Amino acid sequence: MTVTDAPGRVAADDARPGGSGAGAAWHDVRMAPDPAPLVGRDAELATLRRVVDDARGGAGGTVVVSGEAGIGKTRLVAEVLASLDGDVLVARGQCADSGSGPVPYAGLEGVVRDLVDALGADDVLAAAGPAADALGAIVPGLVAQRPGVASGRGPEVLADLLSTVASGRPVVVVLEDLHWSDDATRSTLVRLARAARTSALAVVATFRSDDVGRRHPLRTTLAELDRARLAARLEVGPLGADEVAALARAVDPRGGADGVALAELVERSGGVPFYVEELACCLGDDLPLSLRDVLLVRYSQLSPEAQALCRTVAAAGQRASLDLLAAVLGEDALATAEPAVREAVDAVVLVAEADGYRFRHALLQEAVAEELLPSERRRLHTAYAEALAGLPATVPRLAEIADHWWHAHLPDRALAAAVAAQAAAGHDAASSTAVALGERALEMWDLVPDAERLTGTTHHDLLLAVAEAQHSASLLDRALALTRQALAEWPADDPAGRASTLGQVAVHTLRTGDDAGRALLDEALATAPPDDLGTLGPLLRLKARTAMLDGDHAVAVDAADRGLDAARGTGDRALEAVLLNTRGVARVDAGDLAGVDDLAASRRLAGDDWDAISRFHTNMSDQHVKLGEFERARALASAGADLARARGAGWGSLAMLEGNVAEALIGLGRWDEAAAWYERSVPLVAPSQFAVYLTERWTWLTLWRGDGERAQSMGRRYRAQWLRHDRIEMQVRARVRATLAELALERGDVDEALDLVSPALDPGRLTGAYALTVLVVAARAVAQARAQGRPVDDAPYRAALAAVSWPTRGVWATVFAAELGDAPWSAVAALDVVDGAPAHLRPYALLRDGEAHLDADDRSAARGLLTAAVEAGEEIGAGLVTTRATALLDDAGLLARRARPSAAPAEGLASLTEREVQVLDLVAQGLTNGQVAERLFISRKTASVHVSAILRKLGVTSRTEAAVLARTTGSAGSPSSEGVSVAHGPPSAP
Ligand SMILES: Nc1ncnc2c1ncn2[C@@H]1O[C@H](COP(=O)(O)OP(=O)(O)OP(=O)(O)O)[C@@H](O)[C@H]1O
Ligand SMILES: [Mg+2]
Repeated sequence: MTVTDAPGRVAADDARPGGSGAGAAWHDVRMAPDPAPLVGRDAELATLRRVVDDARGGAGGTVVVSGEAGIGKTRLVAEVLASLDGDVLVARGQCADSGSGPVPYAGLEGVVRDLVDALGADDVLAAAGPAADALGAIVPGLVAQRPGVASGRGPEVLADLLSTVASGRPVVVVLEDLHWSDDATRSTLVRLARAARTSALAVVATFRSDDVGRRHPLRTTLAELDRARLAARLEVGPLGADEVAALARAVDPRGGADGVALAELVERSGGVPFYVEELACCLGDDLPLSLRDVLLVRYSQLSPEAQALCRTVAAAGQRASLDLLAAVLGEDALATAEPAVREAVDAVVLVAEADGYRFRHALLQEAVAEELLPSERRRLHTAYAEALAGLPATVPRLAEIADHWWHAHLPDRALAAAVAAQAAAGHDAASSTAVALGERALEMWDLVPDAERLTGTTHHDLLLAVAEAQHSASLLDRALALTRQALAEWPADDPAGRASTLGQVAVHTLRTGDDAGRALLDEALATAPPDDLGTLGPLLRLKARTAMLDGDHAVAVDAADRGLDAARGTGDRALEAVLLNTRGVARVDAGDLAGVDDLAASRRLAGDDWDAISRFHTNMSDQHVKLGEFERARALASAGADLARARGAGWGSLAMLEGNVAEALIGLGRWDEAAAWYERSVPLVAPSQFAVYLTERWTWLTLWRGDGERAQSMGRRYRAQWLRHDRIEMQVRARVRATLAELALERGDVDEALDLVSPALDPGRLTGAYALTVLVVAARAVAQARAQGRPVDDAPYRAALAAVSWPTRGVWATVFAAELGDAPWSAVAALDVVDGAPAHLRPYALLRDGEAHLDADDRSAARGLLTAAVEAGEEIGAGLVTTRATALLDDAGLLARRARPSAAPAEGLASLTEREVQVLDLVAQGLTNGQVAERLFISRKTASVHVSAILRKLGVTSRTEAAVLARTTGSAGSPSSEGVSVAHGPPSAP
């Protein structure tokens, strides 16, 4: 049942100066008892205290605490909070489960409330800025909600808000019980973990390890945190025998824990403090046999009245407010029950709070709820459901009501409530909740005779709604299965509905990367009633979009034209706008640049329709990227992102626009900014077609920034997901194949690279800009094969290039020619961003030119070119180029030694601190300050301070010189400086 608060919440509150846990009781029942003094846990406390100290120092961190139920996670955290000074702001959230899944936003609500308590609502809202609306979804009533404002941005806004607050004073954020977390809480955790490294923010999260199975969504989040080394893990284990004894003595000083009893206590409790506490009271008696009996030791010693009261509270969940109890029991009965309440509180089964009661521990509540008699269960849950129904309807409350009806064994009521809650959760972008509720509603459907009348929907419509929620929650296969089922059930006398549903099946099929969806879509179009424009329009839109993505330009334009007729026929302007957008992209891709007029027209038609507006900004900026107009692309995407923020649009459309900004920044050579965005945002994007674009760009950038090892591991990790969409989308086909081929060339695997670029030879599979992307890598692969003495016929590639017409063809044809030795690299180096050449081409071309001159033994020209390559590479942070160029210079003995101080370099090296040695190692590997910061978990500023200190101590003027010094003196002193030798790889192209 509903767990609305934490075991140990009072302990944590009490620990905080001015905490609300004590002193506000409505009566004189004693509040939470003093817990027994903490036993053991010295190392664990030290870990947590360290992260708080780090936060005070301006560079905090994240610790994820795990362990079985009752092991003492909450207690550990409470202990640390209790020792904090008043200057630290503590914000604590508590995840909760409603029985059918996580309660939406539960994990964040306490965090926001604590902020409001500490700073006042006005200051909190002011600090959150224009996006403050999103906080209203977390704490209902905090801000007046503007209609139509999506709430999906809560995590982002809250994380930013906490960083802002942390710039003024240290902040500790506690997120408890993540095994019950919803999407929003997990997303917030990742964002906070990123922010914490460079701010006065410490994040402590807890979860029950035994409740997080292999398929639990928290697994993905934890893997993400581990991979990016964003969080330390702290596993809390059982107490040792001596600690069990100490705790038993503290709990019950009278109990004589002799050797035998103690051994039994150790064994029965398994060293879990919760069980030790429960069992300590009956030491010497016969210890209960089953786990359930252990849990109920204290409960079973209560009077029947007190037990009944506990069961009443247990039916409500972890806690029951006085209002709710009064509604269920009646005011009089509640007053009469006071002695029973007192008894339960004295026995520490219940704990009194300012406005209600909670169980001492979640484990107790679960056990007592099991004790409800069937009649009692129905009566109480019905009463709770009815009482809750009288309160304002929020998603969590609707979900809770559905749960109560379910536990009351009244499936018809439960079904109606679940369908209502499902719809509300869907609107609220609470997708995993919507899925849980929807799936439960589907389960209950058959138990209810007149389900349609009760819910106001049909089973097949419900299937589609749940499929949509599953899709939003990235459960692609399940969404497809349910849509198929909806189709199978669709009434034969509704051909239009059937055709639309078949269209949905087609779309879900394509989304899973299965191109069989295309034939299904054609079938849908063929079976739709020919004069039913309302059905045909959306189907033609799907058709046009599918063909556009696949690069089937003519089909796309034709479908869009027919769709436009339908949309105009029905007066559906939003549909018309989207179709124009699709047609515009298809036309541009086909080389008809006037297609951008369609895009512009779609913007005019869009009116206030956000879907159409965001599509315009996304697709138009994309066209500019393809045309090499990076600054225009950046401006358009960033204007779209501003609009998204101002409208409070969901993270989905914002991420898409910001992703386009990042992509344009890559072209412009603003790599540190782009990398920072990917680093921060990619983990927050659910696996999808869209995530493919982002992970591909991020991997490419990582490779070129010089972190080859990480790029290779990203390539391995994403490969399958990327290639899944290879058959569906031309953009994915081009980008993913080019990047995977570059990674293969880096590994020296020419065959694999040639295999990957093969679609470039098939004019139907890659056209225009996309063909060029792949052909330049193909040329490099061919050249590399030749260098290995394996001649590859380049004629088909040349023919393919000759067949491409595209505005920036000149740029790429020059690179292609240079790779194959037909043109000098100086021609590439002379290209400029204004020609549509992305910023990395110049440093790359200088490197290749320098290489060529070295081969020709023109040392002086080589030296100038390679030095220029290093400088140009450093300008944008192209570590791949700078490292290679530096290595070539060094190997050829061409490095400028004049800047070297006369003092023995070893002396300078010896004066470096341990940290500076680490930084120098990384600099020598070609990493930028930003990358050094990421690797060492320090801020970029700190990294740059270290680098300056290193330059000063070594008496050199550039990082390249410092790197060379580190190389030539053998080692900077640490084992990891082996990494420097990476630069000795084959002098082939990057
Ligand atoms: N090291 C300890 N010394 C003394 N008491 C402890 C210790 N660890 C835990 N306890 C007590 O044991 C009980 C269970 O601990 P706690 O609630 O912290 O467990 P938990 O791991 O948070 O459990 P859950 O997973 O159910 O949230 C509490 O009453 C707590 O005060
Ligand atoms: Mg706990």
